[in-house]
Parts: sequence; structure tokens; C-alpha cells
Amino acid sequence: MKNLVVKPSTVEKLKQFHPWIYKDEIKKIPKGVVKGDLIKVISPKGEFLGIGYINPDSVITVRILTFDNEEINKKFFFNRIQKAFNYRQEIFDKITDAYRIVHSEGDFLSGLIVDKYADYLSIQFNTAGINNFRKEIIESLIEIFNPKGIYEKVDEKIIKIEGLEENKEQTIYGEVPDEIIITENSLKFIASIKQGQKTGLFLDQRKNRKIVSSYVKNGFKVLDLFSNSGGFGIYALKEGAKFANFVDISQVAVSQIDKNCKLNGFKNYNIVKADAFDYLNNLDKKFNLIIIDPPAFAKTKKEKTGAIKGFQFLVINSIKALEENGYIALFSCSHHITEEDLKKILLFASQKTGKKLIILEKLMQDLDHPYLLNAPPTFYLKGFLIKVV
Ligand SMILES: C[S@@+](CC[C@H](N)C(=O)[O-])C[C@H]1O[C@@H](n2cnc3c(N)ncnc32)[C@H](O)[C@@H]1O
Repeated sequence: MKNLVVKPSTVEKLKQFHPWIYKDEIKKIPKGVVKGDLIKVISPKGEFLGIGYINPDSVITVRILTFDNEEINKKFFFNRIQKAFNYRQEIFDKITDAYRIVHSEGDFLSGLIVDKYADYLSIQFNTAGINNFRKEIIESLIEIFNPKGIYEKVDEKIIKIEGLEENKEQTIYGEVPDEIIITENSLKFIASIKQGQKTGLFLDQRKNRKIVSSYVKNGFKVLDLFSNSGGFGIYALKEGAKFANFVDISQVAVSQIDKNCKLNGFKNYNIVKADAFDYLNNLDKKFNLIIIDPPAFAKTKKEKTGAIKGFQFLVINSIKALEENGYIALFSCSHHITEEDLKKILLFASQKTGKKLIILEKLMQDLDHPYLLNAPPTFYLKGFLIKVV
């Protein structure tokens, strides 16, 4: 394993367990290393700082796997995965049989995502470095979970950057059905690992579905914008909503919402396959609760201004579509949109609509997507539940 020396200014960050080293934080990339190679990171004084893997073509050039001087082998991955699983079992086994087991750097396994859907696992190898340990990781998963099947998901954009074009979406162990029924807070949902966005369901919103729906009163009219498989609206129906209107642009999502509502015995819903922006523009109904949970509008810093404009439109028009004393749950899953940005968007909308806004809840991703203080980008999902008065 070759040594990589970082600049003096990067040493402290690594001693605070930050798992990423950017290209301009490196003194010199050792000769002969290729994408995915393990490297030992040392300070200019020769102090050991960690072991990670390198991608010389990526802005995030090194991702640290361990801050200890240990071997990176099957035992290493087995122990990390087992630890991550133990922490989830304590929290989630009473609530659901679907949760994220490994959340990349949030679980000190940069580049690896593993989700559990009842007896099945879905997995993503998002970096060349982690892909080099596929065998060790898959063997560990089989030993720990004894799953009925494991399905590999692939993010096309990511694998291009990492040179992993050979990775294909496929069943890599056992058998995986097209649809898996999971239970979450005694509601049933269909997870289609093979078809769904992300790896099937938006597991990170689980806690927020519960919190937001706890404000629903009998007879509430609910609008679930960007609803995906309908989680927020379905929770609201369980709490006595009069009806839920779901809006999503994706055909897969729309048909999943219908199946999920039927699976839980709800009849009082309406599904619209549409662009949420167009839908709001032409809206003539009023609601008591509107959920705004768009996809990541700002994937890069450059896209931030446009994203903020989009949010402003959504919030202003949602406020206008509320009954008196209505509620809005607003989310952003983009790292580049901060909590402060969301507050500014809400203030702007308050001014434009002449309505005052009370923050009832500050919301974030659920605990199976750990927010590791040492790695700021692991805090990505933020939101507010507000009351409009
Ligand atoms: C973050 S997900 C929503 C997750 C959902 N709230 C849940 O709890 O499962 C965003 C959703 O927005 C949908 N979407 C993307 N662009 C859209 C648009 N312009 N109008 C409506 N839906 C859109 C995507 O299909 C996706 O299902």
C-alpha cells in the first residue's frame, strides 16, 4: 500500500474524523496508483492518519475507510456491517422490517449503500474503492442476514465517474421478487427494488411521515406533492384524513401509490400524474395539509439559485391553497440547500402572501441514515412543519 501525504492544513480535519480528502488537500498523489487502490494517509511529519481508497479523477480524491492502522479485509467489512445492523435493530425492529443498514460514510463505509426490505437486501457499490471489495461485502451480508435475495442497484451517473460501467442492475444472490410487501408503523407498502427510485422506498422520510401525520385531524384534506409511493398521504389517511390528493410525475410512482392505498384498504384518495408546478398553477381546491417533498433540485452549488426560485414558487402557491390555519411540511433532500435557506424561502413566501408562519417541527432524515457530525454532507434531508396563520 502506498503512502499519500496531505497538506498541513488538512491534518486537523482528518484528526476530527472527516472521511474525505479533496484533490487540493493532497501534497502529492503517489505514482502508479489507480482508481480504487488502497492508500495509507500520512501527515507531512509522517504521522499515520488513516487508510482509504483513491480515485485520482474525482474531486473527492480519497475516502477514508479507517482511522486505525488495521487491515482492510473480509473481517473488517463483516464487523462494520454487523455494527451498523446492531444499531438499527435496536431502533427499528419494533417499527418496521425495512430500513437502511449501511449509509455510506454515515456508517464509516464510504461508497456502500445497503437497504433491507423484509427478507431481501438491495445494495449499491458507488465507488471503485468499495467495488474492489464486492466479494467480501456480499459474503458478509449473506452470513449476517441469510437473505432470500440480494439485488444490485446502479446509479448511472455515479458509475461513469468511478469507471464502474460493468456494474449492472441485477440479482446477485438468491431470488428477488418484483414486489416485496413491507410493514412500517403497521401500514403496508410495496417496495419494488427493481423498479423504484433510490432503492425502492424513501426510507429516510419514515420518522417525518409519523411526525407530520400526528398533526392530522379527522376530516383533513391532504395534498401530497412529489408523493412518490404515497407515504405521507397514506399516513394521513390512517390518522383520519377525509381524503388525500397525490401528485407525482412518475408513472411508476403513481401506480405504486394506487397499490399502496388499496393494500391498506383506503378508498378516499385521488392520484394525479403531473408536474407539481403545473398542478399548483391550475389548482382550485383548498387543503388543510400540504406536503412538499421535491427531488434534489440543487445537486451542485451552481444549481442553488434556480432551486431556491423553485422552492419559493412551491411554498407561495401552497400557502395560497391552504384552508385557514393550515399546515405545510416542506423538505429539501439536497445538501446544498441548508436549513437557513429553507427559512429564508419561508420568510420570502410569508411576505409575498401576507401570512405568518409558525415552525412546529424541525425535521431531518431518519436515524438509519446517520448524520455523522464529522462528515457534514451526511446531513442532507432537512425540513420544517409549519402552521400558516
Ligand atoms: C423525494 S421524492 C418524494 C418522496 C416521498 N415524499 C416519500 O415519502 O416517499 C421526490 C418525488 O418527486 C417526483 N418528481 C420529480 N419531479 C417532479 C415534478 N416536477 N412534479 C411532480 N413530481 C415530481 C419524483 O418522481 C419522486 O417520486
